[in-house]
Amino acid sequence: YAGCAVELIHCYSLVHDDMPCMDDDALRRGKPTVHVAYGQATAMLVGDALQALAFEWLCRPMAGVDGATALRMVAALARAAGAAGMVGGQQMDLLAENKSVPLTDLQTLHSKKTGALLSASVTLGSLCGYRADADPALKTALDQYSAAVGLGFQIADDVLDATADAATLGKTPGKDAAQGKSTYVTLLGLDAARAAAQQCLQDAFAAIAPYGIEHGQPAARLADLARLIVDRKN
Ligand code: IPE
Ligand code: MG
Ligand code: MG
Ligand code: MG
Repeated sequence: YAGCAVELIHCYSLVHDDMPCMDDDALRRGKPTVHVAYGQATAMLVGDALQALAFEWLCRPMAGVDGATALRMVAALARAAGAAGMVGGQQMDLLAENKSVPLTDLQTLHSKKTGALLSASVTLGSLCGYRADADPALKTALDQYSAAVGLGFQIADDVLDATADAATLGKTPGKDAAQGKSTYVTLLGLDAARAAAQQCLQDAFAAIAPYGIEHGQPAARLADLARLIVDRKN
């Protein structure tokens, strides 16, 4: 249920992100965006409903999760989705259009609009069952890992927007440049953006390396996941 809740927030954010008042995109996952297919009012309501549904699902009883932990999970997702996280990052993204922003601001923007939700998914996973919160060193490692992966995901998104075709991407490429978005590619150029994404991957590995990231070791799957997210092609 926790995984579904994150996915529902993510879907809602994309439905709203694609609307004409934001990025005005017509293609998502190879299909017409929700407002193109069903109209803007419906797209707005679909996003609203998906957000509510996320919390409904997160509140379902989960094996190994007591009431107090469930509340912490709800709070973690709410914080990641709201003004301190994804929504705040989306606002920064709009304010940074057609502007040259410092790299540190862009990093904050990316960490909020994309990183916060990705970090929440790791936090929620660590809270349901594994009790990573009871181990401060593990919690710190997971927080650093997820922050690096989250930033790496968005830098990869910036690179793909500038390099991939619509069939591979499932969305319209070249939109960032056309809309004057502040991205790692527009700010640093392609090569430096690619290098920044690889640095995120190395940072993610370094954070969890003490737990063993080689094949068969405890954190190997987290390392694979980081590779999948940062080195993706679509
Ligand atoms: C959107 O970032 C992040 C969200 C919170 C939805 P982008 O605007 O770069 O995402 P794409 O490129 O449309 O998928
Ligand atoms: Mg956007
Ligand atoms: Mg967009
Ligand atoms: Mg993008």
